[in-house]
Amino acid sequence: MSERAVIEDWPDIYRARRDAIREVAAGGVILWLGHLPQPRNYEDNTFPFRQNSHFLYYAGLSEPALALLTYPGKDHDVLFSRPATMDEIVWSGPGRTREEAAREAGIGTVEDLDRLGSHLARARDKGLKIHYMPPYQASTVLRLGELLGIHPEAVRAGVSRDLVEAVVRQRLVKEEVEIAEIEDALRVTDRMHRAAMAAAGPGRYEYEIAGEMQGVALAAGRQQAFTPIVTVHGEVLHNHSCDNVLADGQLLLNDSGVESPRFYASDITRTSPVSGRFTTVQAEVYETVLRAQLAAIGMIKPGIPYVDAHTHAARVIADGLKQMGLMKGSAEDAVTAGAHALFFPHGLGHMLGLDVHDMEDLGDIVGYPNGQERSRQFGRNFLRLVRSLEPGHVLTVEPGIYFIPALIDKWEGERRHTDFICYDRLKLFRNFGGIRIEDNVAVTAGGVRVLGPGIPKSVKEVEAAALRR
Ligand code: GLY
Repeated sequence: MSERAVIEDWPDIYRARRDAIREVAAGGVILWLGHLPQPRNYEDNTFPFRQNSHFLYYAGLSEPALALLTYPGKDHDVLFSRPATMDEIVWSGPGRTREEAAREAGIGTVEDLDRLGSHLARARDKGLKIHYMPPYQASTVLRLGELLGIHPEAVRAGVSRDLVEAVVRQRLVKEEVEIAEIEDALRVTDRMHRAAMAAAGPGRYEYEIAGEMQGVALAAGRQQAFTPIVTVHGEVLHNHSCDNVLADGQLLLNDSGVESPRFYASDITRTSPVSGRFTTVQAEVYETVLRAQLAAIGMIKPGIPYVDAHTHAARVIADGLKQMGLMKGSAEDAVTAGAHALFFPHGLGHMLGLDVHDMEDLGDIVGYPNGQERSRQFGRNFLRLVRSLEPGHVLTVEPGIYFIPALIDKWEGERRHTDFICYDRLKLFRNFGGIRIEDNVAVTAGGVRVLGPGIPKSVKEVEAAALRR
């Protein structure tokens, strides 16, 4: 899609989303609570503020201490906000007026936040059910308890299952404006990954690379969508420490993304050689991961259960490892038995949207519909997404191959899957690290579209980007 080709009328978009969701309340009221600032170490020193994603989806407003009531009846919404005190104006500035904020959200009525309790009491007196989403911040649990007149321990039991299911149905299928936001985030992410590949070199520290990359995001006015993973120990799947020095012959795994102007996430992983050139063995492992990723992307179309793409990618990986002499026997049988998970111990991907793992606050309902349960097999139990895909779903495709010494030692000690794994040859790979390749894709009516401007991915493209220093 060309830059910002989609016509955007955000107030109308938010209004339409609220009109669609209010139906599910069946005459009741929906309460959306925005986030409060969270103190780091004392009240005035807070973590960077990030609004609740459901609040962003239905109102788009990123200021703290907001609430929204969605009443029955078209376009009947009330925004609640706290007027800034003079002290807050002096220390933090006046911000936009709440009328301006409400206009941006397509909301006609604004009231003081301290009137929210009386609105809810009136709704309860009239016998209207109050629907709300599951809270995941302690402060929200306490506020809900207070507003609804119930003990905090009773808050979770009162969550509206109907509302949760309807929100998942609505947010899962992305509108073109949402995909345009993710594309926007990906254009910055492309520049970040190119900067990281070019900056990496022997003697530099992981944090220097992370810093240069973060500089690209900050200079574009963007926040990171999650804590980035920038490491020569890519075998540690979510490695957030980055204080190693880079050495010739190592691989740098970089899993990072930013938020778009309306807070949609990108999530891209690339793995590049510190020296600028892959060794023959590194290139062989890399090409196997790439084949698995391209094969999985090639399978994506409406109706395909994502678990099938995962299983197929696992088979391609097992087959590639067999060609390298690290696995043996039938790749299909190895995957059925779960032997490939020694090297690929996570799921193929997850939904992406306003959250990097979209709606993970709602649990497995997003990835496992109709009460499907997670597998208990090691590796498969980490699949976040098995559901059948539909046009408008946006997700990540991120296979990897990792050599995790502690896991190899454990399995070898237990003589696990000795029919499929060549433990002797694996000894040569103890210091290899890990390779993951991750893209963000949208399911279309006819198949799939890889989002983003084409972030270097083939061996040749990655080496060219890495040598541009
Ligand atoms: N990209 C980080 C994650 O998926 O958790």
